[in-house]
Amino acid sequence: MPRLFFALWPNSEVRAQLAARRDPVVRAYAGRSMRADTLHMTMLFLGETPELLVPDLLACGDRVRASSFTLNVDACCHFPHSKVAWLGCTEPPAQLNTLWSALREQVDPLMPAAFADSVPNEFHPHITVARDCLHFPAPHGVPPVTWPVEDFVLIDSNVLPGGPLYRVLRHWQLQA
Ligand code: 2AM
Repeated sequence: MPRLFFALWPNSEVRAQLAARRDPVVRAYAGRSMRADTLHMTMLFLGETPELLVPDLLACGDRVRASSFTLNVDACCHFPHSKVAWLGCTEPPAQLNTLWSALREQVDPLMPAAFADSVPNEFHPHITVARDCLHFPAPHGVPPVTWPVEDFVLIDSNVLPGGPLYRVLRHWQLQA
């Protein structure tokens, strides 16, 4: 079964800037660095999904109507329970949550059981940059990265011993 999630996928320029912000975080948190080519913001994690639902999920993405926006990635924080350090926005734009809600509204009826288990009712936008962290400094600012978000994607994630392999199944343009 494919392991799927909807995400925001940075272009190469933004990806390089996020990777530059990641490195000091990895050192400060004594964590395991996430590869630059895998950096992303998860919108909806669907998990192991029956193959026969994939066309329906693609149709869900087709139906989402949402506007493009800009993320100002300016903060570093962590989830203590999962020992993850992440980059995020001090003030996430309203359109980010609107996109999350639009995706949920489409996908929820398809996967109610999966969502009951794994998807929280609130969205905590974050870009994981380090896992298995040993230290947890206080949340702090980072030099901002301007990320113009013009599309969202559905990713098939193949978890391999050397790290995940992510494949973009489809991307959808947001409205200008
Ligand atoms: P994370 O960055 O918060 O760890 C691919 O595995 C992506 O899906 C990761 O970015 C990860 O988010 C997210 N993910 C993995 N397992 C998840 C789960 N059980 N619930 C929510 N998100 C998950």
